[in-house]
Amino acid sequence: MRPTHPFTMTIQRNPGRLIAVGGGKGGVGKSVVSSNLAIAIAALGAKVTVIDLDLGAANLHTLFGIARPEVGLQDFLDREVELAETTTRTSAYGVSLIAGSSQVGVANISHKQKQRLMSHIRQLPGDVILLDLGAGTTFNTLDFVDLADLRVVVMTPQMTSLQNAYSFLKAAVHRSVQLAADTGEEREVLATAVAQVKDTQRMGTLMAALAARSPVLARRCESLLAHYGTVVVGNQVRDDRDVQIIGNMARMIRDFLQIPAPIQALIRDSAVIRDSVNARRPMLLEGGGAAATELRRLAQALLAPDVARLRHDRRHGGMTGTLDVPSMLATA
Ligand SMILES: Nc1ncnc2c1ncn2[C@@H]1O[C@H](COP(=O)(O)OP(=O)(O)OP(=O)(O)O)[C@@H](O)[C@H]1O
Ligand SMILES: [Mg+2]
Repeated sequence: MRPTHPFTMTIQRNPGRLIAVGGGKGGVGKSVVSSNLAIAIAALGAKVTVIDLDLGAANLHTLFGIARPEVGLQDFLDREVELAETTTRTSAYGVSLIAGSSQVGVANISHKQKQRLMSHIRQLPGDVILLDLGAGTTFNTLDFVDLADLRVVVMTPQMTSLQNAYSFLKAAVHRSVQLAADTGEEREVLATAVAQVKDTQRMGTLMAALAARSPVLARRCESLLAHYGTVVVGNQVRDDRDVQIIGNMARMIRDFLQIPAPIQALIRDSAVIRDSVNARRPMLLEGGGAAATELRRLAQALLAPDVARLRHDRRHGGMTGTLDVPSMLATA
């Protein structure tokens, strides 16, 4: 049951499931995936709000066929309005949009603005909050990756996309580990361990160095990694070789970053998708063929884990074993 009393609403974290969609590189399909995934999740009965967090280069509203949103993130950033008041209805049943901003300078929101935005995102009503992230690995992006319960990493089989997706996740994992250190002392211990290990590629090496200094912090970080709730979406794939390339990257993520990252959707390079962008109508509203099937599967996988337990286990380690949630993701 959702809390209905306004007091309960303000003090409790809303149980809405937070899903970040990122990928490091620009133009790989993050917004196409976000918009269609929002529709696929809503079709399963959830109320979805998708937020355009591509600060400075917002265009998610265009994908939904909304030419000029009347309200959006800029209103929240400029004025003392509630984030929930800046939503726009879309033509997709059950999907609301918080349109982004392309105003000059907005990409550099202050730390204080970011904190306020994150706290409002946590309190948004609804079942699922999807965050469509921009390209790059600035802290403004990585902190939203950390905030989320689940992460969708979109990549294409092109070398530049693979490189960026990997460095995006690596930066995100390092940032999350940093944020898991609670005290000045823990942050110092972590910084010493990071300085000591030469190979920052391998999280296992860092965890070993950390365990020698602070077993408590090492355990917390290992739990964080095991429950990092990440899934890979391979986009614009053309053939079996492309599928293999995406598979190799998913394995590399698992082996080096120590986070389970099963492939949950493989979307073919398709004229239907290109046309849907130009027509400003998400392809899932038209049925969508094979790509729609993949996105529906992804939607189901993302709705499978119990997020309350995931939040608990990510911080404290699971009574039920750390691989529990990722394996649910893998098979859902
Ligand atoms: N599976 C696909 N098949 C064909 N074209 C695609 C596919 N996925 C995405 N595209 C094309 O790639 C373009 C970029 O997609 P999208 O805007 O979703 O990327 P993005 O990662 O959000 O980029 P940015 O970082 O700039 O926000 C789309 O306009 C679309 O034409
Ligand atoms: Mg985008």
